[in-house]
Amino acid sequence: KVYNNYFFDEPVFDLHDGGYVPLEKVDMPDHPLNIPAALKPDKVEGNDVYYTITAQEGETQILPGAKTKTWGYNASLLGQTIVLKQGVHYHVHLVNKLPEVTTFHWHGLNVTGPIVDGGPHAPVYPGGSRDIDFTLDQPAQTDWIHPHPCPNTARQVWNGLAAAVVVTDDEEAKLPFPRNYGVDDIPIILQDRSYHDNQLDYKKDYDIDGTLGKYALVNGTINGVFDVTTQRVRLRILNGSDRREWRLHFDDDHGFTQIASDGGTLPEPVRLTKLMLTCAERAEVILDFGDKKPGDVVTLMSDDMPIMKFKIGQYVPDDVKLPEHLTTIDAPEVTPGLPVTRTVMSGMDDQVRLDGKLFDMQRIDRRQKIGDTVLWDVVNTNDMDGGMIHPFHMHGCQFLVISRNGKEPYPNEHGWKDTVGVNAGETVRIAVQFTKFGVYMYHCHILEHEDTGMMAQIEAYDPNHEHKYHLLSMDEM
Ligand code: C2O
Ligand code: CU
Ligand code: CU
Repeated sequence: KVYNNYFFDEPVFDLHDGGYVPLEKVDMPDHPLNIPAALKPDKVEGNDVYYTITAQEGETQILPGAKTKTWGYNASLLGQTIVLKQGVHYHVHLVNKLPEVTTFHWHGLNVTGPIVDGGPHAPVYPGGSRDIDFTLDQPAQTDWIHPHPCPNTARQVWNGLAAAVVVTDDEEAKLPFPRNYGVDDIPIILQDRSYHDNQLDYKKDYDIDGTLGKYALVNGTINGVFDVTTQRVRLRILNGSDRREWRLHFDDDHGFTQIASDGGTLPEPVRLTKLMLTCAERAEVILDFGDKKPGDVVTLMSDDMPIMKFKIGQYVPDDVKLPEHLTTIDAPEVTPGLPVTRTVMSGMDDQVRLDGKLFDMQRIDRRQKIGDTVLWDVVNTNDMDGGMIHPFHMHGCQFLVISRNGKEPYPNEHGWKDTVGVNAGETVRIAVQFTKFGVYMYHCHILEHEDTGMMAQIEAYDPNHEHKYHLLSMDEM
């Protein structure tokens, strides 16, 4: 079966609202697609691996003419890709060379909050550094790192801070997926930006319902071209935009196969011709160019706008077939006797609220016992002007999508997720389990909604280990 739709409710696509900025074609020549380098460890000692991640300022040639002032991790823009493996103990030295406070948030990593996971309670001041360490204990997946300082996340991401995190493990390594980084396994970081005399101007482009840009960038490249040298290519697609939803398809309706969602491998491959990602969602897909010959060009589109091209070169034919069963999702049983947690995303503009409130860094909004599996009903009450989709994200866990308004989740939602798009007027039921005690954020991942305060925090507690948290206030940021 091949799915030919975006699954989401069309009346709430972001292009229907008043502040929508459509993508424009950029009149400039094609450019080789930027493939971020893989970050090299500082040292490896047995099972201990050391990395330094530096948030820095730089300049990047994005448009013809003057370079653009941009921010990045170990790079002038976006960042070097961080490759991690399950079971390894990582020591990470986080360095801030920016002129303002930032944090280093591991979106999707199951590491403890509120410090190691790099939420707003883990500031790194300008000129300063912080050292964290963790043992990675989660399956192969595509995650990312981005800033999370309250309330400047959106602007810092807009300036360029975002890098792919590739998690590997031994089980996924046995599956017949392309995994030669940069050759047949590439990140596709989707963002949109506008420029003013070749420079970013966040204030000018700011929209309280989420800032949009005119130009589509893939890995920081406008009109990027990737030279295909293998029959199959694996794309690790990340919606790294402040607000834009991407509705992806190919100009020739070329099909592709989704093999993973936010939290890793899907139980079965899902064949698609269209894929929509809301902010912060990831999808790994395999493209099979077996029907193409050298010289052919396939264009990736979002709505009716071309965003990048795949130029087919010479490749060795590859007849690998994906198995119809990829992995088994060990769904934990819902803990009996517990009520369903209900959390409500409401409003638009400055009226956005989570459970009727704005974020307070010193307020713990909920508690959940570690090891319990609890159903959460995530509600989007928003029906003003047709409403909008709020992508709901939780730190500290990967969850399973149980239902949408009581119906089956979308066909590509049968794996672990940490971010789920919730349509206006919809209730998405998810099963949530925390395994590590800590304080974790949950929020709308439209970054301007998050910065306005559509965010809350939950304490995942261990009844045998009471823990006191020192929660910073916004003034300490
Ligand atoms: Cu990617 Cu709290 O976020
Ligand atoms: Cu996160
Ligand atoms: Cu929102």
